[in-house]
Amino acid sequence: MEIQVLPLSEADKKPKFTDETNLVFGRTFTDRMLLIEWKAGTGWGDARIKKYEPFVLEPAALVFHYAQEIFEGLKAYRWEDGSIALFRPEMNARRFNHSADRLCMPEMPEELFLKGIEQLVSLERDWVPGAVGTSLYIRPAMIAVEPVVGVKPSDHYYFFVILSPVGAYYPKGFKPVRIMVEDEYVRAAPGGTGEAKTGGNYASSLKAGLKAKKKGFDQVLWLDGVEKRYVEEVGAMNMFFAYGNKVVTAPIGGTILNGVTRDSVLQLSRSLGFEVEERKIDIHDLMRDIESGKVTEAFGSGTAAVITPVGELCYKDDCLEIGGGGVGALTQKLYDTLTGIQWGKVADTFGWIKKIS
Ligand code: COI
Repeated sequence: MEIQVLPLSEADKKPKFTDETNLVFGRTFTDRMLLIEWKAGTGWGDARIKKYEPFVLEPAALVFHYAQEIFEGLKAYRWEDGSIALFRPEMNARRFNHSADRLCMPEMPEELFLKGIEQLVSLERDWVPGAVGTSLYIRPAMIAVEPVVGVKPSDHYYFFVILSPVGAYYPKGFKPVRIMVEDEYVRAAPGGTGEAKTGGNYASSLKAGLKAKKKGFDQVLWLDGVEKRYVEEVGAMNMFFAYGNKVVTAPIGGTILNGVTRDSVLQLSRSLGFEVEERKIDIHDLMRDIESGKVTEAFGSGTAAVITPVGELCYKDDCLEIGGGGVGALTQKLYDTLTGIQWGKVADTFGWIKKIS
């Protein structure tokens, strides 16, 4: 399918950031966006790259009422030679369709997903920041736009991609975060939508997030929705615990997100000689292992969060520092290697990088 590029007038061009080192996550958007529509009967069509501007949607649009929405997150990186790279975008295309299936939305052909993103980023290349730790966050999403107040899959969807130059996700940057284990609310249950990247999962996490913020924590660690006993994920991150030479993380089983960075961390850890274990993690065992010093490091992974060290974990009234509360050697090594590959400073022996022409 051809993607039409609509003209952008000088007046439509926004002033660019003046200080790349001070970019706040997800507040600035570039001049253009990609929009492709799906209609029952005709399928995908009307693909265009146009000015970034508000949508005009009917108040009855299904997305506003029943949350038929999915999204993705990936990044474009500016290398020292000025070229631009994407990191494993085909994984996002695949996961997007996995989410689409769960939410009864049409699948987006992977080639169109990838071509649309590449063409948009190429046109907006001047917006990719180059300062250390900065990148262009790419947000593909799909929403149900049919105006009807009955519960049903929509017969009209917008697939769109917007771009945002970003710095670190956590305002304090690559510093250890404090995490509260949530023991009241749950994020997902077996058979639910936990593995889909859908807005509702995030909306329902806000209450616990606010509770944790009020107590001075950066994020919430979710437990399983049945027994409130097994570690799941941190909403914006998958979680890892290092036991010396072993890296342990919760298994993918329908209730947590199948993270692109999670998969990269598992592969990188193996390549660095670490043993990797995907298994259920009982919170009581985990707290005991942290207390006894068996857990040497903890960190989270995500596209936005990259690799984020976790310095402290609190469960009920028990607050424990992990690895002295600092950044562990493995966490640092994984961060350096992953970001090194993303910014073209470390050889990509995995075939993860896709250059934008
Ligand atoms: C990402 O890491 O790309 C995400 O989608 C997480 C989001 C909460 C910022």
